[in-house]
Amino acid sequence: MQILRNFSLKDHNSFGIDVRADKFISIENIDDLRNLLRKNYASELFILGGGSNMLLTGDIHKTVLHIALKGKKIISETENEVTIEVSAGENWHELVLWTLKNNYGGLENLSLIPGNVGTAPIQNIGAYGVELKDTFVSCNAMNVQTLEQREFTLKDCEFSYRNSVFKNKLKGQYIITSVKFRLTKKNHLLKTEYGAIQAELEKDNISSPSIQDISNAVIAIRKSKLPDPEEIGNSGSFFKNPIIGKDQFAKLKEKFPEIPSYEVSEEKIKVPAGWLIDKAGFKGYRDGDAGVHVNQALVLVNYGLATGAEILALARQIQEKIKAQFDIDLEAEVNII
Ligand code: EPU
Repeated sequence: MQILRNFSLKDHNSFGIDVRADKFISIENIDDLRNLLRKNYASELFILGGGSNMLLTGDIHKTVLHIALKGKKIISETENEVTIEVSAGENWHELVLWTLKNNYGGLENLSLIPGNVGTAPIQNIGAYGVELKDTFVSCNAMNVQTLEQREFTLKDCEFSYRNSVFKNKLKGQYIITSVKFRLTKKNHLLKTEYGAIQAELEKDNISSPSIQDISNAVIAIRKSKLPDPEEIGNSGSFFKNPIIGKDQFAKLKEKFPEIPSYEVSEEKIKVPAGWLIDKAGFKGYRDGDAGVHVNQALVLVNYGLATGAEILALARQIQEKIKAQFDIDLEAEVNII
């Protein structure tokens, strides 16, 4: 176990922000994790997964634990289904590709999402009509104080839109070490209702798609809209799509008849933050190296040397304008640190 000092986190966050950590340790096995937690106060540690859902706004004067636990195994299988357990440090998209290679269905709509397996449950990652919770069985996690390992079932995780118990009442208390998924081996339940997926399949003349076809479609859509973090720093959607009351929505619809929306309940409507930000004139906006992506206004980008503070200032400017123009509060989806 190597301790690196004054370590740049530039290659460990998808925004590509160049801040430093006092100490940086890659954790490759559970024993090392337990030993480190035993020797340190939890408040002196900072847990890092894939770094794909955070904006770092300053140096980290703590010991950064980079969770690099690796491994995938089959736990059980029947003729129709397989349950797999995947270690927290595995790359999410590589896991999706591995499931496709084995013809295991369930994760194909979640292709190309940046980040690691262990952080996926924290925000219940989702895209194109599917969320992590749909195939999730349980996760193992270690309590940072008591070092006890606990298995969290689907119910324990309290998943909702980009949210879980790990972002709320258990925030900072557990480190997820592995996740179990239940996937189909045949009769895959394909989710193709999302308009963009249908359009992509039609374009390729595919009428009865395989899970691989759906993954290919999702990859093509994501590549056309979302910047590749290897080329332009970003954290995917910067804001959550706001959920507003039907009365407020009716007023907006009167003013902007073309506004897209999704009903979430009898009283509530979700509106796309990307549309609001686009309408407010920010799409493609750039101030120094901080900007709003040209193809998707929901994604803030770092063109190279932006600091976390500069990206945050842009986010605040957007929030103020959206509040003034639409009377809607935009909430950040990424963790601001
Ligand atoms: N729109 C605009 N202008 C824009 C961006 C979007 O008018 O600049 C409109 C689109 O035309 C569309 C609507 O807004 O009518 C929604 O856009 P899109 O389908 O691109 O999806 P989204 O709501 O912006 C959400 C997730 C994404 C996920 C996609 C697909 C959130 C916060 N974001 O984006 O997740 O990939 O749906 O399911 O829920 C992420 O979390 O990092 C992420 C990329």
